[in-house]
Amino acid sequence: MVSRVIPVDPFDLVVFGGTGDLARRKILPGLYRRFLAGQIPEGSRIIGAARTEMGEAEFRGHVGRAITEFVASAKRSDDTLRGFLGIVGYAAVDARGDDGWSELAALMRRDVVQAFYFSVAPSLFGGIAERLHRFAIATPASRIVVEKPFGRDLATARALNATLAAHFDESQIYRIDHYLGKETVQNLMAVRFANILFEPLWNARHVDHVQITVAETVGVGGRAAYYARAGAMRDMVQNHLMQLLCLIAMEAPYRFEPDAVRDEKLKVIRALQPVSPDDIVRGQYRGQAKKRGGAGNSFVEDVGDPASRTESYVALKVEIANWRWKGTPFYLRTGKRLRGRESEIAIVFKEVPHSIFEDEEDWRENVLSIRLQPNEGMTLSVMIKEPGPGGMRLTEVPLDMSFAEALGEEGTDIPDAYERLIMDVIRGNQTLFMRGDEVEAAWAWTDPITADWDRRDDRPRPYDSGSSGPEDALMLLHRDGRRWREIHE
Ligand code: BG6
Repeated sequence: MVSRVIPVDPFDLVVFGGTGDLARRKILPGLYRRFLAGQIPEGSRIIGAARTEMGEAEFRGHVGRAITEFVASAKRSDDTLRGFLGIVGYAAVDARGDDGWSELAALMRRDVVQAFYFSVAPSLFGGIAERLHRFAIATPASRIVVEKPFGRDLATARALNATLAAHFDESQIYRIDHYLGKETVQNLMAVRFANILFEPLWNARHVDHVQITVAETVGVGGRAAYYARAGAMRDMVQNHLMQLLCLIAMEAPYRFEPDAVRDEKLKVIRALQPVSPDDIVRGQYRGQAKKRGGAGNSFVEDVGDPASRTESYVALKVEIANWRWKGTPFYLRTGKRLRGRESEIAIVFKEVPHSIFEDEEDWRENVLSIRLQPNEGMTLSVMIKEPGPGGMRLTEVPLDMSFAEALGEEGTDIPDAYERLIMDVIRGNQTLFMRGDEVEAAWAWTDPITADWDRRDDRPRPYDSGSSGPEDALMLLHRDGRRWREIHE
């Protein structure tokens, strides 16, 4: 299979926050990998913009170091790195004042695609958006890319949307949720809408429940200040898990194009039922001796606040009030410092209506498991006869598809979510980006949950680092006669 690289037009991409962590870890290495794949056309430029005064050579040194650190060595060569750095420029720009903007304006070209990546704190969005116009840098064709956190509740998200809308049309705004750029997440849509097989079963008549798990082994790391205010609900559930839920639950869009897809997702978010306090468990990791090389701090140590009531784990049950899903609960969970790094969507089907076999204790439900990471792929568990002369005994076997095995080298050479999304911005394709109304609807659902915690001054349940989360989270399913899928180490 030959890798297909879809060409894009030459562009000027300005990365505000060009010296920041996200640029260093994701944006610049991602762009380098696209350069290596031959996807960045001649005449394109990547311009880092940040407050620090530095020359182009100094910034290129910074970019080179980021690439050495974050791109696998097999993918690096001196020649390509030199070629890539040749298209990198730098502009010292003050996002809070007017310094540097005229110089940036002089750098920009009008005859190529223009994109501005706001890899900065949301408090700076408004100032940057306004100056891009006041200094006549942006055009009606320019695109802006904004990162989460997109607000911390409905009111702040609305205010942010209004700020951006004052300067840019919705068709110019690309709100990144990097989960939508993940290969398997897009495959969800392919599996659902390019096969006839699943659709007849994809509803409450046949699906018993759905589990969405995004388990991480890392703690809050260097982002303690942000995370201490955000917590797992705002950091992961309101956006990433919500998007996954939408892709599973939505109706088929009439076409695979931005507004058709986003309209269907929005309908799902609006149909989400409020979550009762009994249907949600929040947790906070406890410290643990430095076993297996893991950092042993507790959450409160990591955020430097012994009284912190922020959650590093959430598990919840939510229902979708529409014809397709009424009666099929969706169980969502995510947490840091769990036993393994594993993200999975499991569609757990109902039992057969009547078993003709006596061997019922060995019976298991069919489960379609979609693995987002690691080892991206899908497994459908089916019951078959146990081989051999032992009579009609049943056993469960996996129909397993690992992308790496099924697609060979291409399956392992999956572009990072950021690479794909940045190229979509250049292409002008908003399908995998969140629309303003989607973000607001997601906050409208999240707000009562977080407000209830605040009102009750709710204390998260402790769980051990390296465990599967707080005990109470198990009960969420046990009391419904179900069980969580295992999180593997
Ligand atoms: C980010 C969150 O959006 O996603 C982080 O802010 C989280 O807290 C990360 O660790 C997880 O992303 P991934 O791609 O590693 O699953």
